[in-house]
Amino acid sequence: MINFDFRISTHLHYGAGVSEKLGEEIKKLGYARVAAVVDQGVFNHPQILKALDSVKQAGIELEIFKNTAMEPTYSYLENFRKNFTGKTYDGLIGIGGGSALDLTKGLAVLLTNEGEALSFRGFPQLKQKPLPVLAVPTTAGTGSEVTFNAVFTEEKEKKKLGINSWANFPVGAFIDPLITVNCPKNVTVSAGADALVHTLESYVHKNHTPVSRMYSLRAFQLLYNNLIKVLKEPADVEIRGNIALGAYLAGVALINSGSGPSGAFSYPLGAVYKVPHGYAGAMFLPSITNINIRKGYQDYAALYDLIEGVDASISLKEKNIKFGDKIQLLMDTLEVPQKLSHYKLGPADVDFMIGQHDVLKAAIAQNPIEITKEETAVLMKNLA
Ligand SMILES: NC(=O)c1ccc[n+]([C@@H]2O[C@H](COP(=O)([O-])OP(=O)(O)OC[C@H]3O[C@@H](n4cnc5c(N)ncnc54)[C@H](O)[C@@H]3O)[C@@H](O)[C@H]2O)c1
Ligand SMILES: [Fe+2]
Repeated sequence: MINFDFRISTHLHYGAGVSEKLGEEIKKLGYARVAAVVDQGVFNHPQILKALDSVKQAGIELEIFKNTAMEPTYSYLENFRKNFTGKTYDGLIGIGGGSALDLTKGLAVLLTNEGEALSFRGFPQLKQKPLPVLAVPTTAGTGSEVTFNAVFTEEKEKKKLGINSWANFPVGAFIDPLITVNCPKNVTVSAGADALVHTLESYVHKNHTPVSRMYSLRAFQLLYNNLIKVLKEPADVEIRGNIALGAYLAGVALINSGSGPSGAFSYPLGAVYKVPHGYAGAMFLPSITNINIRKGYQDYAALYDLIEGVDASISLKEKNIKFGDKIQLLMDTLEVPQKLSHYKLGPADVDFMIGQHDVLKAAIAQNPIEITKEETAVLMKNLA
């Protein structure tokens, strides 16, 4: 028997059109004046306009700010907060992908606590509770609508390390597939691959629990099967809804279990080489999965059984082996680049990535199977 705890602190609203309930829900929460941070990619999206209109219709005072940053830096956050000098709000609305949601969550900390943005890096002790955040994800996704993390890059050291606080769960999340139906293919794939990394790494993580695994398993089933379908049917609301739900469940699993080597290596690949976060993690996922399988990890069989159309009668060992092939097949189908050279990394950059093994060793050690620096070197060279 293992002892564990499990936490979700976000009121979820899920379904086609739920974003139009934003105003009603804010009114129930008793907020009179709110600010919305809206990502530039969805600034004129009809469903977002409806959601914002519902806030005005509910008689709530609303100010709108545009996010123009992809994967924001601390200096962007520091500059962005200047828009809010001398203003007070009862709550914030974040509308966008992980970038805009994290920006809103970072801002929520800064608007109630004094200090430079960078001084909150890591797990800060907050003197005041952050402003409450309502999150409307427009990608599916990072799961930021249900996590307490807000990721930012420090530009000088080129390091991604966010502002993380158990006091900073969004109070509400509005997951509306009418928003993601017209997501372009590259955004759909990158965000979907990110969610897949979250679900697989939380599933195998040394700290997984029976409850976190329930979330990882269902997230995997929804993500794997629907990411294949969405390529052919990008406007299908049901499929988009399944992916968005999968991404949400993966986010819950991630914060209650943890991430591993693919997530860890995605950080330098994103911060130094500007590879979009989802693509960055997906670069390493098949190799890490295959190392685990080769070294005898057996728990992938339960995930294999959840892939539509597989033969469930084969042996446990065969299922694990075939699972590695299935992950590779998904990456190939989604056309996720599987070479570092695709992003113009040369031999010196590959050496840099190998060196990151030492920097990231605590996160790599969360993998259930040991991964040595020699194995990292082989993995990176194979991806060169
Ligand atoms: N807080 C967390 O728990 C958490 C977890 C994982 C990742 N992240 C962070 O999230 C960021 C990545 O977020 P992301 O993958 O959602 O991408 P993103 O927010 O950076 O958006 C990617 C691009 O898609 C556009 N876009 C967003 N929604 C759209 C839509 N519906 N239609 C058309 N275009 C749209 C954006 O304008 C942007 O150009 C990274 O910084 C990553 O580190 C955070
Ligand atoms: Fe991620």
